[in-house]
Amino acid sequence: MAANPQALYSRQAETDASTSGKLLSAKNVTLEYRTPERLVRATHDVSFDVYGADRFVLLGPSGCGKSTLLKAVAGFIEPVAGSIEIGGERVRGPGADRIVVFQEFDQLPPWKTVVQNVIFPLRVARKLSRAEARERALHYLDKVGLAKFADAYPHTLSGGMKQRVAIARALAMQPRVLLMDEPFAALDALTRRRMQEELLRLWSDERFTLLFVTHSIEEALIVGNRILLLTPHPGRVRAELNSHQYTQESMGRGEFQQSVARIHRLLFEEEIAQ
Ligand SMILES: Nc1ncnc2c1ncn2[C@@H]1O[C@H](COP(=O)(O)OP(=O)(O)OP(=O)(O)O)[C@@H](O)[C@H]1O
Ligand SMILES: [Mg+2]
Repeated sequence: MAANPQALYSRQAETDASTSGKLLSAKNVTLEYRTPERLVRATHDVSFDVYGADRFVLLGPSGCGKSTLLKAVAGFIEPVAGSIEIGGERVRGPGADRIVVFQEFDQLPPWKTVVQNVIFPLRVARKLSRAEARERALHYLDKVGLAKFADAYPHTLSGGMKQRVAIARALAMQPRVLLMDEPFAALDALTRRRMQEELLRLWSDERFTLLFVTHSIEEALIVGNRILLLTPHPGRVRAELNSHQYTQESMGRGEFQQSVARIHRLLFEEEIAQ
C-alpha cells in the first residue's frame, strides 16, 4: 500500500488544480453576530473567488471581519445574506474538505503525542486504517521537519514547532482548501519569516489551495498570489491585487516597498479621505 506516498497524497490537490476552475466562491456575503445587547455586522457584501492552487489572502485592519469570513468558509457561521460555495455546492456546515489552522499554539490536544495528534483526525474523518494514518502522519511530519519529534508531547515544543504540527495535521487531511487565520502572528519575527518560507516550500511541493488571513501587508505580499483588501469594520471589498511576483527576497526592494505603500494607502488613507 502507498508505495508512492507523494502520488497518493497529492491526488486531491491535483484534481482541484487541474480543473483550475473556481474552487471556492463567496457571493455577496454579509456576516453578523447577534449579542444580547446588539447586532454586530462583521462583513458587508463581500465577494471573491478562489481557484485551485491559489494562495488567496484576506488582508485588512483589525476588526474588519477576516476571522469571521474564514469561520464562514469553514462552516461555523452562516451568512445572513449571500452564499459561500465550494466546488459549486453551498457550504452548510463544517467539513473535512476545509481545515483551519489557528493563531493559538494550544490547538493541539496536550494528552496526545505529536504523531497521535496528526493521526487522530485521519482515523475519525478520513477513516484511514491505523497503519495508513500513521504512515501519512509521519510523511507530513517529515515534510515540516518534525519527524524526530513524532513521540513528543506538545508542551515540550516551541511555538513554531506547535504551528508546524498543526500545519502537518491540516495538510495530512488533504483538504480542498486549507484555511489559516494569522497562523504565524504569535511567533517572533525570525521564526515567522522561516515559517512563511516553509509554507511556500510546502505549497510548491503539494500545490494545495490556501485561504490565508493576515493583517500584515508584508506577509500578505509574500505568502499570497492574490490578495483581497478589506475596508475597516464592517469589512467590504476595497480591492483585489495580484502578488505572485513577490518572495521573501523581494522585501528590501523598491517595487515591494511601493506595493506596501500602495496597499497602506488603500487600507487607511483613502478611507479617511472619503
Ligand atoms: N463572537 C462575537 N460576538 C460578537 N461580535 C463579534 C464576535 N466575534 C467578532 N465580533 C465582531 O465582529 C467584527 C469582526 O471581527 P473579526 O474577529 O472577524 O475581525 P478580524 O478582522 O479577524 O480582526 P483581527 O485582525 O483583530 O483578528 C468585530 O467588530 C468584532 O468585534
Ligand atoms: Mg482575526
